[in-house]
Amino acid sequence: MAKVISFSSQKGGPGKTTMTLLLAAYLYGKGHRVLVFDADSPQHSFNMTRQQDIRKDAAGKSRVDRLLSAGHPLYPVSVTSVEELAASLAVLKTTKDADFILIDLPGTLNVPSIHSLARLIDVAIVPMELEMKSYMSGMETLDFYTHFSPDTKLGVVWTKLKSAHNTKLKKQLEVLMRERNSYVFTYALNETVTIGQRISSLFPLPEIEPFALELFNVSGLLSQ
Ligand SMILES: Nc1ncnc2c1ncn2[C@@H]1O[C@H](COP(=O)(O)OP(=O)(O)OP(=O)(O)O)[C@@H](O)[C@H]1O
Ligand SMILES: [Mg+2]
Repeated sequence: MAKVISFSSQKGGPGKTTMTLLLAAYLYGKGHRVLVFDADSPQHSFNMTRQQDIRKDAAGKSRVDRLLSAGHPLYPVSVTSVEELAASLAVLKTTKDADFILIDLPGTLNVPSIHSLARLIDVAIVPMELEMKSYMSGMETLDFYTHFSPDTKLGVVWTKLKSAHNTKLKKQLEVLMRERNSYVFTYALNETVTIGQRISSLFPLPEIEPFALELFNVSGLLSQ
């Protein structure tokens, strides 16, 4: 069975798509078979990044040609909707062609079919910035999964952390999360001014490696 991982948060802009791109490129780079469903209408930012990846330059070349000439087929990115995905994901998970299915979800949890989709997600990771609004809506997202999909493993990734941020507060919030939700791991991705320019669906960035190792270590995803 393919494992389904999704970054999920009701707050706009904490880094859902960035984290999905980073993890997808990392898994692809490690040779895992990846499928991505971009269900975040109308912007479909994951797919936009894929389109940039494959766009050719004036000389008719794209960076992707290097991958293709090395015999490394691109993993598919499908633009879809929550409803469509909820109707098909149970069958998609049984495919022999994928090890991991990553889903870029819309921010709102107020869409039809989101409950049945949530129950098919193996690991949901909530990206949070270390500020109150992001924390509050992140907690709502964690509570949503705890309540409606108790088998989904939960994680939190602090995004855009600055060195000036209060690490004591961060630790206190992590204790609160663990008290309210059955399983939580946390990891911090520091603020990186250039991440938006370097991001790619295909070429892994080094920032993600410690997060990915932590994710697989704690969730046991690779050993199942
Ligand atoms: N660690 C980081 N450091 C600096 N900037 C970041 C980091 N992570 C994400 N960003 C930037 O924050 C912005 C929002 O990120 P992203 O689009 O991934 O968020 P999102 O949660 O998917 O947003 P939306 O709710 O619109 O789907 C982007 O400009 C992205 O480059
Ligand atoms: Mg997004």
